[in-house]
Amino acid sequence: MEVIEKNKKQELKEFIESVKDKEHSDSYLIAVLHKAQQLYGFLPREVMDDIAQQMQIPTAHIWGVATFYHYFNLTPPGKFVISVCLGTACYVKGAAEILEAIKKELKIDLGQVTEDRLFSLQLARCLGACGVAPVVMIGDKIHGEMTPQKIVEVINQYRKTAKNK
Ligand code: FES
Repeated sequence: MEVIEKNKKQELKEFIESVKDKEHSDSYLIAVLHKAQQLYGFLPREVMDDIAQQMQIPTAHIWGVATFYHYFNLTPPGKFVISVCLGTACYVKGAAEILEAIKKELKIDLGQVTEDRLFSLQLARCLGACGVAPVVMIGDKIHGEMTPQKIVEVINQYRKTAKNK
């Protein structure tokens, strides 16, 4: 485990080095935060401190950028990560209502985790399944042709599966 953590740290460090010489606009910072989230699954405080140090940016600024964008998670993700596609095909077929139904059912907002740590919620751009829009991905499984009612049933299935394990 420690070795894996070290590798992640090293990989992130190398990534920062590769973008560091470019001017410190927020787009480079966002690229770095994306890389960190890809490696760690979320943005731990220590990792943000490391980034601040290496990029010589105040941690408060990084924190501000990370909280501004919905796609950054500041807490460890839930067991099941729910990604609601808001790409064009999904959006025109009612993705926004599905997102609202999920928020209501789970009582969380984007970027948050349910109290039982079972679900976390995030947005996605096109998930490559426009033919069955609107689409919600849970973990790595695509659920197509969703409706606000259907997604609640799907969520309940996951709850049941988690209980039976
Ligand atoms: S726009 Fe949602 S899957 Fe393509």
